[in-house]
Amino acid sequence: MLRVAVLASGEGTNLQALLDDPKVAPALVVVLSDRAGAGALARARAHGVAALHVDPAGLNRDAYGDALLRVLEDHHVDVVALAGFMRILGPRVVRAFEGRMLNVHPSLLPAFPGAHAVDEALAWGVKVSGATVHLVDEEVDHGPVVLQEAVPVRPDDDEESLHARIRAVEHRIYPRAVGLLLEGRLKLEGRIVHVLGDEE
Ligand code: GAR
Repeated sequence: MLRVAVLASGEGTNLQALLDDPKVAPALVVVLSDRAGAGALARARAHGVAALHVDPAGLNRDAYGDALLRVLEDHHVDVVALAGFMRILGPRVVRAFEGRMLNVHPSLLPAFPGAHAVDEALAWGVKVSGATVHLVDEEVDHGPVVLQEAVPVRPDDDEESLHARIRAVEHRIYPRAVGLLLEGRLKLEGRIVHVLGDEE
């Protein structure tokens, strides 16, 4: 069975969705965070999954990426799922997991990449936003789209209400995408991801 690591900086509700998924959970071997107090680490420990704080203090982007890469190699990780990991990864760790690293992002990419996607969608006045799962490449929130789903933006939405609606979608599509990768059902052609075995 392929071995999955999750990298998370925050609360870890997407990690929780992965821990609750019967296909993904057995493959989850380690959760890494840049923040010692991340809720994600507590959630991992509550499920008996190894949870490690990899401290970024004093390390530049490349050195921190290399530190993560060493821990991932130590745990013989095959697949990496970024779940609210709020740091840009250095190129060596990204290349090491090319085609095997996924990210979930709270907008319909390529709209609103970056760390403030929900606020920016509201400020722009879009009527529809959503969630994207994509393969990670060396540019931020840029790699090939695996799954995407839209949600409406309501006139009275604030960051909290819109993000909650988007998270509910993330919690469905992220475990599905990780499961498809684990089953070898994602085929990349250029930057188009085909989902094998899906009735079109
Ligand atoms: C999620 O909405 C995820 O899409 C977003 O952070 C949240 C983490 O929530 N990620 C980004 O904005 C990355 N650019 P969680 O800790 O509850 O899973």
